[in-house]
Amino acid sequence: MTDDTTGFATRAVHAARNQGAASSRATPIYLTAGFEFDDFDHAANHFGTGAGFGYTRTGNPTIHAVERQLAALESGADAVLVASGQAAVVTALLTVAGAGDHIVSSTHIYEGTRGLLLDNLARLGIDATFIDDIGDPEAWRQAIRPNTRALFAESIANARNDILDIAAVSAVADDAAIPLIVDNTLATPFLVRPLEHGAAIVVHSASKFLAGHGSVLGGVIVDDGRFDAEKAGHNAPHLVLPGRGGLPSVASRHGGKARIAYARESVAPRFGASPSPLNAFLIGQGAETLGLRVERQSRNALEVARWLAAQDAVESVDYVGLETHPDHALAQKYLHGGHGSIFTFTLRGGLDAARDFVESVDVFTHMTHIGDVRSLVLHPGTTSHAHRTQEERDLLGVRPGTLRLSIGIEDVADLISDLTRVLEPAREAVA
Ligand SMILES: Cc1ncc(COP(=O)(O)O)c(C=O)c1O
Repeated sequence: MTDDTTGFATRAVHAARNQGAASSRATPIYLTAGFEFDDFDHAANHFGTGAGFGYTRTGNPTIHAVERQLAALESGADAVLVASGQAAVVTALLTVAGAGDHIVSSTHIYEGTRGLLLDNLARLGIDATFIDDIGDPEAWRQAIRPNTRALFAESIANARNDILDIAAVSAVADDAAIPLIVDNTLATPFLVRPLEHGAAIVVHSASKFLAGHGSVLGGVIVDDGRFDAEKAGHNAPHLVLPGRGGLPSVASRHGGKARIAYARESVAPRFGASPSPLNAFLIGQGAETLGLRVERQSRNALEVARWLAAQDAVESVDYVGLETHPDHALAQKYLHGGHGSIFTFTLRGGLDAARDFVESVDVFTHMTHIGDVRSLVLHPGTTSHAHRTQEERDLLGVRPGTLRLSIGIEDVADLISDLTRVLEPAREAVA
């Protein structure tokens, strides 16, 4: 293609073309906008059937490799990787709901998801009802309307560490022939795989534990592949009716994988939150060590939570790994290998003590992120939950002295010595 007769500019863009295939053991990073077609018919076939790779927004081998990996970790049938956790939630919800539809959601969810439902999806004509007592299946059942298209909750919720009774809420969803969508970001598939307990769809902010190192954003939607057109078709006309121009329905082309196929073919590429292949690689590489990290982080978190619970300066610790947590028994049923590493605790000294704490820690990093190998701290009352009323914050377990910790993989002795140094003056003030 290029030799010394071709011009400099031509050589610059063509000389590296078509390197011979090598068997890279690590996932190769296909950092390309698109893929060369073999011939005329290959292009037509790709556009006609979606087979193979044409353009990275609709498919890329690096991204696909990571999708297979994350689907396998969540015991799912298929997965779609997107650019952020927020994009994963949007994609999942727009895969099941449209204008005139309704979602029932737990109150105890990430504030960005709540804002999405209240501000953005509401403007598109998708209503939401929020359930406070998520442990009561009847509360979920009673909120379901004829136009409800999904139930939504988090497996472990911030800030109170509420645990979702996945099997009980899945049964309610099943009776209504709608999916339960579970945001499994805080738990990770190492601790619980919601699809094994009856949930239909799992979403993640892959920016957190899956990638693990706080260097990239990403999100994933994993589906159980058990869409039942006969039973649930009336709740998903966009999956069972022919498409525009008489295209056979998604369900007739993809069977049980209709939901995730629709997310892949229509929602994710059209709304356009495609991940970079480089970020996909980093998520896939991170996910390889997920179990090691989450096991260690959970162990560290339990030790830190126990230590905090024994301090006079600390009023309460909302960690589900502690026997005193109201959902501890439920956690024993669902979580295996640890109880996660994100939790809140409340200082008796209120806002002033919380301010001193975040400004004094050294090993802990003060930032709005979770699931990192590094330990992190944030004051939710003045950051993520600042726009809520104090009454709402109280309901969510966010008080003036409440701090959120995300425990990392450091040596736990160093975490505790950082906390000891910081809480020493607070202890003296309380005494
Ligand atoms: C539980 C949960 N879901 C979704 C998101 C959104 O993810 P991202 O920040 O990757 O868009 C977050 C972010 O903090 C989260 O904590």
